[in-house]
Amino acid sequence: PFTVELAKSGEIFEIPVDKSILEVLREAGKTLPSSCESGTCGTCKTRLVSGEPDHRDLALSEQEKARNIMICVSRAKSGALVLDL
Ligand code: FES
Repeated sequence: PFTVELAKSGEIFEIPVDKSILEVLREAGKTLPSSCESGTCGTCKTRLVSGEPDHRDLALSEQEKARNIMICVSRAKSGALVLDL
């Protein structure tokens, strides 16, 4: 598990091993766009403020991976991710 912090609201969420970031945020009532939910379409692209992402998508270029994360599939390598949400 790891945590996700939303930079704009300051809310912090624990992401369990069996749920995606997208699922956890939706369960908390957030409205977020998605389509494929398998890391290929690019719809759920979210700006990453800080943290060590574990990119599991096929949508982002190497260059984009520094500052973005696909929240339907990707996770954190450790600790916490701060998202620009
Ligand atoms: Fe398609 Fe996340 S919803 S990449």
